[in-house]
Amino acid sequence: MDLLNRKYPLTRMRRNRMKSFSRNLVAENKISINDLIWPVFIKEGTNKTESIKTMPDIFCFSIDRLISELEKPVSKGLNAIALFPQIDAELKNNKGTLAFDENNLVCRAIKTIKSYYPDLGLICDVALDPFTDHGHDGIVKSGEVINDETIEILIDQALVYANSGCDVLAPSDMMDGRIKIIRENLEKNGFHDTILISYAAKYASSFYGPFRDAVKSSKLVEPRNKKSYQMDVANANEAIQEISLDISEGADMIMIKPGMPYLDIISKAKQKFGVPTLAYQVSGEYSMIMSASKANYLSFENVVMESLTCFKRAGADGIFTYFVPKIIDIIE
Ligand code: PBG
Repeated sequence: MDLLNRKYPLTRMRRNRMKSFSRNLVAENKISINDLIWPVFIKEGTNKTESIKTMPDIFCFSIDRLISELEKPVSKGLNAIALFPQIDAELKNNKGTLAFDENNLVCRAIKTIKSYYPDLGLICDVALDPFTDHGHDGIVKSGEVINDETIEILIDQALVYANSGCDVLAPSDMMDGRIKIIRENLEKNGFHDTILISYAAKYASSFYGPFRDAVKSSKLVEPRNKKSYQMDVANANEAIQEISLDISEGADMIMIKPGMPYLDIISKAKQKFGVPTLAYQVSGEYSMIMSASKANYLSFENVVMESLTCFKRAGADGIFTYFVPKIIDIIE
């Protein structure tokens, strides 16, 4: 019998939905702690917990504070965090040279976190924006972000992070060819097992606004946006091309970013390539849900769990989400 032609009353779709035992049995996706990555902001100093104006309840921690904040999520089974540094303005310059200083904030954080939580996966962004005084992910010359010279710095940044004990490097800069060159340089230096997550399809999105407040990189000088390297939000075929290039250059996992408005890209990418696929529920998505929940326009826990489940349904294997500490008690 053609099941799709089996009609009412033989088929009543509501039967399986009627009770919670059968809903649970037929549920196709369930979010667990294994699916989540917590992005965290770090800063210099000791005992510092600084709020971020545009991200309610999110803080930028000094390394020692982060160590305590991690205790609970790690004990509940959190697998990985992603580190984002907030660099003091006087340490930034136009080439972002602090990015490849082996004593920079990120390298010190990696070593300290590893000494407390050796099994926690550490993911570090490879990009220059926290370290440049102009806020761009690469080197700027005559109002243009220069591709190949930027990669020369990114490979050094990648190497000092790997050398400090970082497990996963996540180039988020969107320069052409950087996965290949970073991978070759890691191999040459004996880092055969360092994982590369390529932010393969990263869009020039306005949903990153609160993040740029958090890392204090919101005031971009000329060019005033990142559209010459991040993708046009109008494009989907281009994402497939970006992803296929990054896989062929040596990426172990791919990332789509932002998240919720880009589930179509996650779905297409997963179906086409079938490689480990991650999604990033970015700062603007976090802040939208938070502010609507704080105003009682939305029911917080339900909306967060729904949003995360939808990422999985679309095909994401893992999700970067700032909600980790807020939902740690309600997921398994
Ligand atoms: C920087 C970077 C950004 C984010 C992650 N890495 C911002 C940007 O590209 O301007 C955004 C994350 C978020 O909004 O939560 N390369």
